[in-house]
Amino acid sequence: MLERSRRFRHRKVAVAIGLAAITLAGCGDRTGPSNKQNALRPAGPYARKILDLTEPFFWIAVVIGLGVIGATIYVALRFREKPGEERAPKQVHGNTVLEISWTIIPALILAVMAVPTVATIFSLAKKPAGPNVVHVTVSARQWWWQFTYTDPGNGVVTANEMHIPVGQPVSLTLEGPPLCDSPGCYNNGVIHSFWIPALNGKKDVVPGRSQFLKLEADKPGTYLGQCAEYCGLSHANMRTRVIAESPADYQAWVQTQLKPKAQAVLEKGVDNAQWGCATCHSFQAKTAGAVAPNLTKLADRTAFAGDIYETNYDNLWKWVYDAPSRKPMGNLTQHMPNFSAQGMSQDQAKKIACFLLENTATNPQPQPECSSS
Ligand code: CUA
Repeated sequence: MLERSRRFRHRKVAVAIGLAAITLAGCGDRTGPSNKQNALRPAGPYARKILDLTEPFFWIAVVIGLGVIGATIYVALRFREKPGEERAPKQVHGNTVLEISWTIIPALILAVMAVPTVATIFSLAKKPAGPNVVHVTVSARQWWWQFTYTDPGNGVVTANEMHIPVGQPVSLTLEGPPLCDSPGCYNNGVIHSFWIPALNGKKDVVPGRSQFLKLEADKPGTYLGQCAEYCGLSHANMRTRVIAESPADYQAWVQTQLKPKAQAVLEKGVDNAQWGCATCHSFQAKTAGAVAPNLTKLADRTAFAGDIYETNYDNLWKWVYDAPSRKPMGNLTQHMPNFSAQGMSQDQAKKIACFLLENTATNPQPQPECSSS
């Protein structure tokens, strides 16, 4: 009987360990499949610096944690009341040696840990300098990111997808939305947080303030990010991606972005006269839209609408037709409207989507659905 209950208990423990292992496996590490958004898989020097700090501290914490838990379990079992035994433990009132040591030891541990921590903070806060630094202003909008390349000879304004050259530091100026409290103020003055886990830590983007963050990637690849500060209804739909490529590929990309089709051609193609797209969007390479993304090279981007919809015919025409049904807009007063409610037909939306796919791509792909136009 005793034997069976012990076996049953062992089985329960085994099941619990198995479940914990499966759960923890979902957290991912450096050996599992990459989700491209993983601080445990740093892809550049800044993110690696953070992990190099985190990892030893994690193991120190594991040792201390196991020591405390182990001691607690040992004492609970060793000194538990046994049947037939009735004795009060020896009463102790204060122990100076113990009290001093359990104050000093943690203080020393924390003091030692502070040294590399402060050094890392200072190192990450240092602005990179030199001719190969790329400067980008990151503007938080509800709910998407705008990237403005501010180096001489560049000036590209784009959204959601940031291209960077590998091996070169990228200095970001994180601009919060302008301060405003008037009713209908577009940005609602909320805080966002910019975070590309594989390339560096996160930094809040605060209304009316300007903050610094830097990125650098070791090798070409796509690194995903996500707004990390709750900013309203579509906070989860405020994603971003960094595409790191060779310096030559990056320069080539800049040149393509600087040479979109003419503004007049693009505005005519989207029927701006009827729908007023240019009121919010921009159709010039170096100009930001008043409240919405620059569309000159829209079809070059992998995804749109805060990097949540892959840029393709089906997603694009449905977005043009009725955006609020595809992404919750909450109480924003200025957002991509439901054009179907303003009389746009599905055919008109499809025509605009076809036009954008064919005219805002550097290498337009044949669109079978658009052949008639
Ligand atoms: Cu922007 Cu959360």
